[in-house]
Amino acid sequence: MNPNRRRFLNTTAALGAAAWAGTPLWGAPPAGKFRTALIGCGWWGMNILRDALAAGRSKVVALCDVHAHALEVSAEEVNDLSGDQPKKYRDYREMLAKEKPEIVIIATPDHWHALPAIAAVAAGAHVFVEKPTSHTVQESRAMLNAATAAGRVVQVGLHRRIGPHHREAMEFLRSGKVGKIGMVRLFVAGRGGTETPAANAKPPLGMDWDAWCGPAPLRPFNPRMHPGGWRNYLDYANGTLGDWGVHWLDQVMWWTEEKYPKRIFSTGGRPVSGAVVANEKEATTDAPDTQVAVFEFESFTATWEHRRYADNPTERHGVGAYFYGTQGVLHIGWRDGWTFYPTDKNAPQAHGNPRFDNEKDGHNNPPLWRDFIDAIDHKRRPAADIELAHRSSVLPMLGMLSYKLGRSIQWDGAKEQIIGDAAANALLRRDYRAPWQYPKI
Ligand SMILES: NC(=O)c1ccc[n+]([C@@H]2O[C@H](COP(=O)([O-])OP(=O)(O)OC[C@H]3O[C@@H](n4cnc5c(N)ncnc54)[C@H](O)[C@@H]3O)[C@@H](O)[C@H]2O)c1
Repeated sequence: MNPNRRRFLNTTAALGAAAWAGTPLWGAPPAGKFRTALIGCGWWGMNILRDALAAGRSKVVALCDVHAHALEVSAEEVNDLSGDQPKKYRDYREMLAKEKPEIVIIATPDHWHALPAIAAVAAGAHVFVEKPTSHTVQESRAMLNAATAAGRVVQVGLHRRIGPHHREAMEFLRSGKVGKIGMVRLFVAGRGGTETPAANAKPPLGMDWDAWCGPAPLRPFNPRMHPGGWRNYLDYANGTLGDWGVHWLDQVMWWTEEKYPKRIFSTGGRPVSGAVVANEKEATTDAPDTQVAVFEFESFTATWEHRRYADNPTERHGVGAYFYGTQGVLHIGWRDGWTFYPTDKNAPQAHGNPRFDNEKDGHNNPPLWRDFIDAIDHKRRPAADIELAHRSSVLPMLGMLSYKLGRSIQWDGAKEQIIGDAAANALLRRDYRAPWQYPKI
């Protein structure tokens, strides 16, 4: 066996064994189906729930959403698919108390991941929570602490950790055939354009907008925010770096044996989207349409770049990661699989086709879900365990923090503190809107 590969397997096994020592034990795995609840019944939440039903180990006992329409539509679909008749809730706290689910899926916008995840593990549930783990760094840390204290399995929706072409590419990287890697470049490009403000409006009928905003600032409802558009409003998410960047930074964290970068810098802006508008009448998005972030590790540098208005016609790939080594360049992509371009022009390229369990949305949630169930059954760490996902998820958050501050930060990853910069450390958390309280770490 290749020595790099052996080291990878040993590290993974050691992580599993060490991490569970001293944590509370589960009871015997429940026979049959897990009482399963979904919080956040939008696009992705329903994708996961369909996969859960298809895997045959879930009885859907509850659905929770602050938008009545989403609840109705998803309850009907669950009933059609499985015959289950889930109870419908607006408040996840009431749902947890009344239904006592054994599994909770969380697919709310990013500002609403931490509190339900912490409450769910504290109530004894195993949790499948979407990426990124959270909106601010210390929420993510609190989620990891809560999962560890409760001894629950927490899988994060970083499905590229389990996708077949990603696994193949990772094996290739570890085989040493790319040589010594000094730089990784991560990117996504898209065809947006200029932006004009959209009029604020009354929230849709049956939408509890105050509850949707929850611990985050209460802004006037704007139809561009919901569903899905919240990604580009920084009160609720971290823009393209938070949304897409976390998948590719996670590939870097999967490959490297380092646990965190030591310095981070990000710059960018809205040269095409234009100035941010946010008043009582109308609003634009406020996330950068152009951004570069640099993550300096001990033995390599990773860069992120995105622009939301022009794709990459002069380059082979529009999204993914280039690992630059002394023997060539390895690209891990999405719908284009992975390809190795050797430095020696006479050497053959290597390629792996993409394979998705769900072709339509191009993802591998089904195997990630099966891994989650297997991890519960066998009391082991899942593939995208909260500890690994925490390390990957804080990177875009730190990138955004540097972007907002306009200066680089030095990161003490062991203490999870920014060195010598009180103003920067203050941004590792934020004040919540009452009555919600920022989780303690
Ligand atoms: N892993 C992936 O590849 C992938 C892909 C897409 C989305 N996602 C993640 O899934 C999550 C949801 O994204 P989406 O595109 O489905 O968003 P969406 O806006 O379509 O759905 C979110 C739903 O959550 C509901 N919601 C908001 N606050 C709530 C609360 N307090 N309690 C219950 N429900 C609440 C909303 O009303 C909405 O129905 C995000 O974290 C996103 O990053 C992951």
